Amino acid sequence: MLIQYANFVGSFVSVAQCPPADKPEFAFIGRSNVGKSSLINYLTGHNDLARVSNTPGKTQTINHFIINNSWYLVDLPGYGYAQVSKTKRKEWEQFIRNYLLKRPSLQCVMVLIDSRIPPQKIDVEFINWMGEMHIPFVIVFTKADKRQHKKWKVNTKLVIDRLMEEWTDLPKQFITSVQDKTGKESILDFIEQLNEEAFE
Ligand code: GTP
Ligand code: MG
Repeated sequence: MLIQYANFVGSFVSVAQCPPADKPEFAFIGRSNVGKSSLINYLTGHNDLARVSNTPGKTQTINHFIINNSWYLVDLPGYGYAQVSKTKRKEWEQFIRNYLLKRPSLQCVMVLIDSRIPPQKIDVEFINWMGEMHIPFVIVFTKADKRQHKKWKVNTKLVIDRLMEEWTDLPKQFITSVQDKTGKESILDFIEQLNEEAFE
């Protein structure tokens, strides 16, 4: 799929504020610093569309980007950021969960997982919650850089094995590296396919 136009629509702090739910929408979620904003920039080919940072907790709002004037990519704040108070973290997580549960045009959530590290409890819990809530999602492993010497192969298998303790059938998985520019086509093809179904 060719992305001709990608434009920032706005940042929102509640579902009620979001643009009308009249276009298919794909949201990116995952732990702080996992690479959500970077992946959005890579997929759209626009380096400065979403704000990237070395410091976790950069994205704090729901950010809509309109693609080819017909569908949305949504950048979300990360979960599990340790540097904020417990109350604030709870508040944030509630706000993200609310968006995930109450956005009717949401076609699929991309759950990002860092391929450089073994399974994290918080990711497993989040994925299991998505399953319980019947929210459609796929898993996108990030930072599978070449210089990792395929360490990602070991970690992705560990994550999948861990999830399979609870799941019988896992959603689709993608392997990506923004650094090496890999994994873009398969994600865009997947989105294109869902868009075609949504427009039918
Ligand atoms: P929050 O908005 O804080 O939740 O973070 P985020 O998930 O949006 O992460 P962001 O895109 O801001 O990236 C975090 C850091 O990871 C940045 O320093 C990126 O340059 C780096 N990063 C993102 N993707 C990759 C990748 O594929 N490989 C490597 N090595 N680094 C990456
Ligand atoms: Mg971000």
